[in-house]
Amino acid sequence: MDTSDAAFYAENSTLQSVHVHRIMEQHLRWEREDRVLDVGCGTGRTTQYIAQRGVKSVVGIDLSPDFIRYTEENKRNRNVSFCVADIQRSSDLQPAWRQSFDKAVSFYVLHLIKDKKLALENISACLKPDGRLLMIVPT
Ligand SMILES: C[S@@+](CC[C@H](N)C(=O)[O-])C[C@H]1O[C@@H](n2cnc3c(N)ncnc32)[C@H](O)[C@@H]1O
Repeated sequence: MDTSDAAFYAENSTLQSVHVHRIMEQHLRWEREDRVLDVGCGTGRTTQYIAQRGVKSVVGIDLSPDFIRYTEENKRNRNVSFCVADIQRSSDLQPAWRQSFDKAVSFYVLHLIKDKKLALENISACLKPDGRLLMIVPT
């Protein structure tokens, strides 16, 4: 996918976001102490939505520096942060992330990833032992 035009992606992903937010509300219950990881956050709309659900903090990560720059410029919540990271690269994961997240979400990302097993292992490594992962993967 073209990740060079963040504003275009942000403007044209509204319907997808509405769907994603509905699925999250069906399957996840947000807690005040939740630390949440959004893998492949794109331009951060869902990351910011989660930040407004009363959770402690949300970290959005994405492969695209252009998307992450856009998310930083459009950040609206103090409990959200963004970082360029490839979920296939263990070395991109910050040590502080290990076993630290209560929930991870990843929407419309896994089908774009070559080494899905490694990506899932890396997400798992970031979750607390009783952490939960919610994904949407187009088939
Ligand atoms: C279709 S977009 C979905 C974005 C967002 N989750 C949403 O629902 O709007 C897929 C995103 O996954 C990111 N991505 C693809 N491969 C990735 C990887 N290996 N690690 C992190 N992000 C990745 C892309 O840069 C892109 O922003």
